[in-house]
Amino acid sequence: MTMAPVIPVLVVKDVAHALPIAEALVSGGLPVLEVTLRTDAALDVIREMSKVDGAFIGAGTVLNEVQLDAAIDAGAKFIVSPGLTTPLAEAAIKRGIPFLPGIATAADIMRGLDLGLDRFKFFPAETSGGIKALKALAAPFYKARFCPTGGITVDTAGDWLAVDAVSCVGGSWLVPAGEPDPEAIKARARVAAALPR
Ligand code: 3PG
Repeated sequence: MTMAPVIPVLVVKDVAHALPIAEALVSGGLPVLEVTLRTDAALDVIREMSKVDGAFIGAGTVLNEVQLDAAIDAGAKFIVSPGLTTPLAEAAIKRGIPFLPGIATAADIMRGLDLGLDRFKFFPAETSGGIKALKALAAPFYKARFCPTGGITVDTAGDWLAVDAVSCVGGSWLVPAGEPDPEAIKARARVAAALPR
């Protein structure tokens, strides 16, 4: 969460796209990449992207312990989940891998704190009430830090990053679906990497 202001959330269907996408993002200044387990290619994409110098590749959309272990075997260095379940959180803590679970309520955060976690993905950020909701939610939990994700764009990322409790944001806007255009991805990464926080 401290390595870059933006974590690209990636849905990659073709493993042949892995290297060009990761190289473009890393050279544009975004080393931390979340590969979502939403395609059959995702684990191979993690393996491929992990070969890129300077890349820090994690797995997203991890829903259970089986997916957690598959992601770690593929080389994932961090784990993101859309929600916070006790079995997945305990397994991630046991494996010693950085774990960013999704939260959208005070009870979610309290369950996370009980498990020893204090870094959370605020998800889905815009439809859960946006910046106003996160500020209100974060107030009682002054040591917690958040990575809002879901509905954030290049135009709104800066507003989110200006919130004290926000360490970084996640989003899929950097890499649209389909055949990757490395120059366009790199240009978007440069803009995102330069966002103040
Ligand atoms: C996620 O999994 O974090 C979200 O699907 C990313 O949200 P976005 O596509 O609205 O950026």
